[in-house]
Amino acid sequence: MGNVSNSPGSSAHSDGSALEKCLRLAGSVAWRLRACRFRLMGVRLQGKTVLKRVSIPRHFRSIEIQDGAAIDDFCVLLVSDPPEKEPVIVIGPTVYINRFTIIDASKRIEIGKAAMIGPGVYITDHDHGMRAGVPIQEQPLLSAPVSIGEDAWIGAHATVLKGVTVGRGAVVAAGAVVTKSVEPETIVAGVPAKPIGKRT
Ligand SMILES: CC(C)(COP(=O)(O)OP(=O)(O)OC[C@H]1O[C@@H](n2cnc3c(N)ncnc32)[C@H](O)[C@@H]1OP(=O)(O)O)[C@@H](O)C(=O)NCCC(=O)NCCS
Repeated sequence: MGNVSNSPGSSAHSDGSALEKCLRLAGSVAWRLRACRFRLMGVRLQGKTVLKRVSIPRHFRSIEIQDGAAIDDFCVLLVSDPPEKEPVIVIGPTVYINRFTIIDASKRIEIGKAAMIGPGVYITDHDHGMRAGVPIQEQPLLSAPVSIGEDAWIGAHATVLKGVTVGRGAVVAAGAVVTKSVEPETIVAGVPAKPIGKRT
């Protein structure tokens, strides 16, 4: 005879799915509360955004997240040396940022509409000064803005370095290190990243 507690209509199954529903509800309440807290602290949240367990250590007013953007668990939005008025990190509408991504900005990092950022990606707009004879810790940052175009896709564990523009609809392969700008609709891969094709 089959075990009824494992059948779809059984109480065991109902308990399981009820528990799952409760946990999902608690999770969604938590991210709504987190969004409220970030909004109160000055993050420029526009429209409806989803911020899972995202870390924003400082300079809340320098971060703008636009309508429909979703940032998944354990991402970090880090700003150093913010200018007076303009936001330093701008996440465009309906952008999705996957888990464990770090956006590390000192001047400006902008991610265009509907771009997708894979898990574990690192995007920075600066280097440390490296002049010989002066400790690197004491040297100013060397910064140049970064832009990720609309509909671009950055693959898992890619790194995007200062001054790079990833063109509209471009694709960065998993694990690539992007040191130079990428033409629209172009696929790049490797270290340093080079074109391997075009979207067709
Ligand atoms: C970039 C990508 C989309 C290309 O896919 P594709 O068009 O099917 O490409 P192919 O597998 O035909 O590979 C084409 C060439 O590029 C190379 N290549 C593909 N991906 C590469 C990568 N990540 N790093 C280095 N080289 C890569 C292949 O080895 C192949 O080289 P060859 O012609 O000398 O044999 C895919 O390889 C990739 O990196 N996807 C990212 C997946 C990801 O991060 N998912 C997370 C979910 S958001």
